[in-house]
Amino acid sequence: MSVRKIAVLGAGTMGAGIALVAARSGYDVHLRDVSDDLVARGRRTLEANLAKGVELGKVTPEERDGALARLSAGTELKTAVDGAQLIIEAVPEDLGLKQDVFAQAAEFAPREAIFASNTSSLSIAKLGGGTDRPDRTVGMHFFNPVHVMKLLEVVVGPETSAATLAAAREVGERMAKDVIVVRDSPGFATSRLGVLLGLEAIRMVEEGVAAPADIDTAMTLGYGHPMGPLRLTDLVGLDVRLKIAEYLHTTLGRGAFRPPDLLRRMVHEGKLGKKSGQGFYRWEK
Ligand SMILES: NC(=O)c1ccc[n+]([C@@H]2O[C@H](COP(=O)([O-])OP(=O)(O)OC[C@H]3O[C@@H](n4cnc5c(N)ncnc54)[C@H](O)[C@@H]3O)[C@@H](O)[C@H]2O)c1
Repeated sequence: MSVRKIAVLGAGTMGAGIALVAARSGYDVHLRDVSDDLVARGRRTLEANLAKGVELGKVTPEERDGALARLSAGTELKTAVDGAQLIIEAVPEDLGLKQDVFAQAAEFAPREAIFASNTSSLSIAKLGGGTDRPDRTVGMHFFNPVHVMKLLEVVVGPETSAATLAAAREVGERMAKDVIVVRDSPGFATSRLGVLLGLEAIRMVEEGVAAPADIDTAMTLGYGHPMGPLRLTDLVGLDVRLKIAEYLHTTLGRGAFRPPDLLRRMVHEGKLGKKSGQGFYRWEK
């Protein structure tokens, strides 16, 4: 099946990024969130990204105009999914919420539409099981920032069909991503390792082993990581990381995934990282 229109549900960090890359790749895109303010915020992020791309000479003004012409955004779910061959949800990492979003989308989506989840960790089987189309449910795990990060982790549930996998792969390749295919298991191939490193770094801050910047430098200069685990946690969002850690702790049952108290405290205090202006670092708006 050939994908022409993509509906992106959730216009936060990831949804805005996925919509941007999809529109730049020639797809018609509808970006949806639950309030006008959130839709406007997503659109602003996306437009700012495009403007920056033009400024840096990475996007031509024609490409920017083309992408914006293919993009629409709003709060109406029916408008978002109407005529879409692919629906990508990027709402918060909560199984019940994501199941509800898919169930609501199924009321208006074309019968043949594929449901993809940008989940970082949750079971594709459980997400697909709650829909009328488990064979057309798949994980499409993009990385932040979506227009920069090359990886797309496609997650295949037990009932995901070969045709669905092929369609997800084709879309990823058209978005110029390197696609890996991973079996549906908690945290897949990426979050399971990445989150573990982040949690241990937070425990080291808690124990006063070193300052956040020094822990990050240990990994960038000592191990050649492009970014330290605490800075990355700030970019991802501490709330997002906490949810993933809780899920991995429950499903994999290993102490190493237990969320550190410091992480819980910071989320409770609204220190969510870059998006709130404060995390392990202070971020200018
Ligand atoms: N932040 C990252 O670096 C990152 C990376 C890869 C994957 N993910 C995954 O992507 C998903 C989204 O993460 P995020 O960081 O973009 O979160 P976010 O909090 O920035 O954005 C989520 C958005 O979804 C919206 N939303 C909530 N309910 C909705 C509904 N019913 N319909 C439409 N929109 C709704 C919220 O209003 C919010 O704008 C999560 O599953 C997360 O695990 C995040």
